[in-house]
Amino acid sequence: MAVTVAGITAPVNGDRLWRSLMDMAEIGATAGGGVGRIALSDLDKASRDLFVGWCREAGLAVRIDRMGNIIGRRAGADDDAPPVVTGSHLDSQPLGGKFDGAYGVLAGLEVVRALNDAGITTRAPLEIVDWTDEEGVRFTAGVVASGVYAGQFDLDYGLNLPDREDTTTLGRELARIGYDGDAPCGGYPISAFFEAHIEQGPILEREGAVIGAVLGAQGRRCHTITVTGEEGHAGTLPMTLRRDALVGAARMIDGLNRLAFDFDPLPVITAGYLQVRPNSRNTVPGRVTFSVDIRHPDNALLADICARAESLCRRLAEEAGVAVEIAEMFGRDSVAFDPDCVEAVRAAAKRLDLVCRDIHSGAGHDACNLAHIAPTGMIFVPCKDGISHNEREAATPGDLAAGCQVLLEAMVARAGIA
Ligand code: GLV
Ligand code: MN
Ligand code: MN
Repeated sequence: MAVTVAGITAPVNGDRLWRSLMDMAEIGATAGGGVGRIALSDLDKASRDLFVGWCREAGLAVRIDRMGNIIGRRAGADDDAPPVVTGSHLDSQPLGGKFDGAYGVLAGLEVVRALNDAGITTRAPLEIVDWTDEEGVRFTAGVVASGVYAGQFDLDYGLNLPDREDTTTLGRELARIGYDGDAPCGGYPISAFFEAHIEQGPILEREGAVIGAVLGAQGRRCHTITVTGEEGHAGTLPMTLRRDALVGAARMIDGLNRLAFDFDPLPVITAGYLQVRPNSRNTVPGRVTFSVDIRHPDNALLADICARAESLCRRLAEEAGVAVEIAEMFGRDSVAFDPDCVEAVRAAAKRLDLVCRDIHSGAGHDACNLAHIAPTGMIFVPCKDGISHNEREAATPGDLAAGCQVLLEAMVARAGIA
């Protein structure tokens, strides 16, 4: 029988969740109060080890799959039934926050701990996942391991992704940190996937809502642009004879930023990573590589923006006397989550008397991949001033606990109680 306290199946422990988040945030803590835990670094390994230890303490059977995803499984009364799965990621941006990703993993763990405390066995098994390399900082493509799991990418593609300096691969780094598991990556039916996450935007906070029932996420295209000019002496090469790759790239970045304002609703366009060769104070740069991330909810408009971005870069390259190569590294269309999962989030929030509103995700998430193979939903909670991918990212213990409680209710509603 379910323990029902004012609509609660089993109360999550908000203090324990907060303590786990703060303990996890010590791994890779940055001077500015955030975390830097790049995927498959030694710090990522340390965060994985901590999570695996906590899973075992909570009685979960842990397996590591071929993409290094860590899966903690809580048996169900009907253990052959497809599991109800939750999770997010423990890797972070170089100067990231304490909550982006870690919240969804540790909220899943807290669901298990709360069910253990209440002595509740679900009918279907539950699985809590730390997805490998969600952020895509180091190996070019983000959300890659959940993408392999969901059949969006081949295993070989995922394992052979080079790092951005082209010195190693994702697969080799997985082996180096001891997380090259042998469990199959996906390929089995799952009942539903729910991911809890901070909103990473300002809407919930501004509107006084505690829970966002996420309807879907906007589409995204990521390009790498290589601009080639010619190196030369900074003191002797006259301005009129230069083919300065960084000047070409700078004009493109400015042009792409301006291009965004030609569309309604506005897309978001970001150049976030630059490599300058030879990167020397007194050499005219000969080659620049930079990333361009373009996102919009309307897939047709997104394609149009990308086409305009490409012809803009080609025109600006010609004007600057440099060559340009444009490679699409990865992309995905906008995703709509499953109406029943969205409704399960709304219903749980209502039962718990939490102010809830529907919301779209600007960010990408592992859930966007899972939506291809299973009914999927997400739960957003507010973050301070909407700030994320920033060391100052913050969220309140109360909101995080509320989102975790909604996660528990949605998962248990799906899994059933034995
Ligand atoms: C994930 O961090 C994203 O960039 O959407
Ligand atoms: Mn995230
Ligand atoms: Mn992120």
